[in-house]
Amino acid sequence: MNPGNVRPAHVTLYEVGPRDGLQAETEIVATADKIALIDRLSASGLKYIEATSFVSKKWVPQMADAAEVMAGITQRTSATYPVLTPNLQGYEAARDAGAQTVAIFGAASETFSLKNINCSIAESLARFRFVMGEAAINAMPVRGYVSTVIACPYEGAIKPQAVTDMAARMLDMGCYEISLGDTIGVGTPADVERLLDVILKVIPAEKLAVHFHDTYGQALANILTALDHGIATIDSSVGGLGGCPYAPGASGNVATEDVLYMLNGLGIETGVDLETIVATAWQISDVLGRPPRSKVAVAKQPPRNDAR
Ligand code: HMG
Ligand code: MG
Repeated sequence: MNPGNVRPAHVTLYEVGPRDGLQAETEIVATADKIALIDRLSASGLKYIEATSFVSKKWVPQMADAAEVMAGITQRTSATYPVLTPNLQGYEAARDAGAQTVAIFGAASETFSLKNINCSIAESLARFRFVMGEAAINAMPVRGYVSTVIACPYEGAIKPQAVTDMAARMLDMGCYEISLGDTIGVGTPADVERLLDVILKVIPAEKLAVHFHDTYGQALANILTALDHGIATIDSSVGGLGGCPYAPGASGNVATEDVLYMLNGLGIETGVDLETIVATAWQISDVLGRPPRSKVAVAKQPPRNDAR
């Protein structure tokens, strides 16, 4: 691979902090704090801010206020605020709450699918078809997630072909893009290369995003590997918040500010302001009562008496 040929000049940062970041918090975060977080992120220049999930409140109590969050945020025309919808019930609630873009989420591992959305991969695809049908009627763009693209917390290593098959099915259904999730953050650049070498034979880089959790500190290296394969959409989470309640051992997503610092250094344009993201990382960390997990937010920590 010759990086100079395919590394993108522009990257889209897809912020997942308000959703992936907060979903694993055991203490319920006030709806007003979630709304403030999203509004601050909106001011940074981000074009995609995943706002919440329309899932069962028994499964993910933190996301029970999804409709209130959607009603409270100020949606800028420059940004899109996607939400997760596992099934038709979630899709209809999201649409009624004013969502303009939704995301369905499946997995390359049967056991993870069962643990996360209570159905097999085949059943999940059947449910997604109902969502896609309604979304087509409403001309609503749908993103697709494939989780456990490197390894599953229950099954271990996952074959790149299984990921490719699931991603291709979700694209065939009409998803505009597939985000490849290393849900438990165990992958190294070698794993990412092995996966991308297989999947890119079938799916073009423009249809793919990468979603790395940073459990083993490999996320930035993995992102660089993905960039050098031409992938230009990167999921990240302000302050390095995140985790999946149904993926034991998973830690936060790669921090938006860490990715942005690296992209700025590489001369890759994003349109996102680093200082605003760092200030936002500190603000949400203050709400959660702990410092941000990211290197960049800590290195650039504003003085205690500043207006964060
Ligand atoms: P189920 O229990 O099989 O669903 O859950 P059901 O259809 O049998 O319904 C049971 C109850 O749930 C009923 O309520 C339904 O009304 C309700 P009851 O009659 O018992 O009061 N229900 C819903 N309520 C609200 N919204 C809905 C909904 N659907 C049913 N959409 C279900 C199936 C999918 C709902 C459940 O398993 C669920 O909510 N799972 C979500 C788990 C989740 O959110 N995980 C985290 C997100 S995925 C992730 O983080 C990975 C990612 O970041 C990428 C990566 O890192 O790899 C995306
Ligand atoms: Mg995730």
